[in-house]
Amino acid sequence: MELSNVVVLLILGFAGVSCMKPTLINECKKGTPNAERCVLAVAERMRPKIAKGEFPEGFTVPRLDPAFIERLEVTGDPNFIAVFENVTVSGLKAFHVDKLTVHTSDQQISLVTKLDYIHLKGKYTMKSNLKMLPPVDGAGYATLELTNVKVLVRLHYFLIGKKGAKTVRFLPTEFKVMFDGDANFALTNALRGKPDQVTNEAINKMPHEILNKTKPAVQRHLSETFTTIVNHLMEDAERERK
Ligand SMILES: *[C@@H]1O[C@H](CO)[C@@H](O)[C@H](O)[C@H]1NC(C)=O
Ligand SMILES: *[C@@H]1O[C@H](CO)[C@@H](O)[C@H](O)[C@H]1NC(C)=O
Repeated sequence: MELSNVVVLLILGFAGVSCMKPTLINECKKGTPNAERCVLAVAERMRPKIAKGEFPEGFTVPRLDPAFIERLEVTGDPNFIAVFENVTVSGLKAFHVDKLTVHTSDQQISLVTKLDYIHLKGKYTMKSNLKMLPPVDGAGYATLELTNVKVLVRLHYFLIGKKGAKTVRFLPTEFKVMFDGDANFALTNALRGKPDQVTNEAINKMPHEILNKTKPAVQRHLSETFTTIVNHLMEDAERERK
């Protein structure tokens, strides 16, 4: 399975957690007033390493920038069907965490990560018939430039294992992507027989039409990948310790 993904950036908080080892997690749990600072400090220390994919030997976490999405399918709406394949995502290493909150009472961590600029490039097929857009029925290459993307994640964390060998697992309870900035699509061959420029100009007048339709699939994909990566990281961290 191809784990590399946009969301690796979000692990920063949790890669932090994984490297804190259970003792520190317990510290963060007990020392309620300093929980945020404790997690953030480790996350910040880990950030450059996560961005470059520099993990200790034995870790199998993929590189963050550029990241890779093998396949993303958007279905569920007969008026909008799309498949994106072999998508390269760059710009992720500039992520920053705007907010991180540890709710010790119900063992939840929430964080908001912001990306100032992302560039995506890959293959696409799309069939769309949306009210506000010219119809799209094409296949070719697509690029997308986004500014100001926010990702909000809320995870439940829990300790597993026996006394003295406890470890942490995460379960996402909320995962939201917000496209707060500009978006610019460039599709080739989006409408057979029409010049690319005409279709793209129309799409880019209302890029949020397509973004909105794509969002649930993106969130689902990211949430799954994210969970896998985070829990995978935890396993690696445990193996390291042994
Ligand atoms: C995606 O990349 C893989 C590996 O390079 C390749 O086998 C596959 O044909 C590509 N898919 C498309 C749609 O280009
Ligand atoms: C996006 O979708 C939501 C519902 O999922 C809707 O409330 C909102 O108006 C949509 N925005 C655009 C620009 O289509």
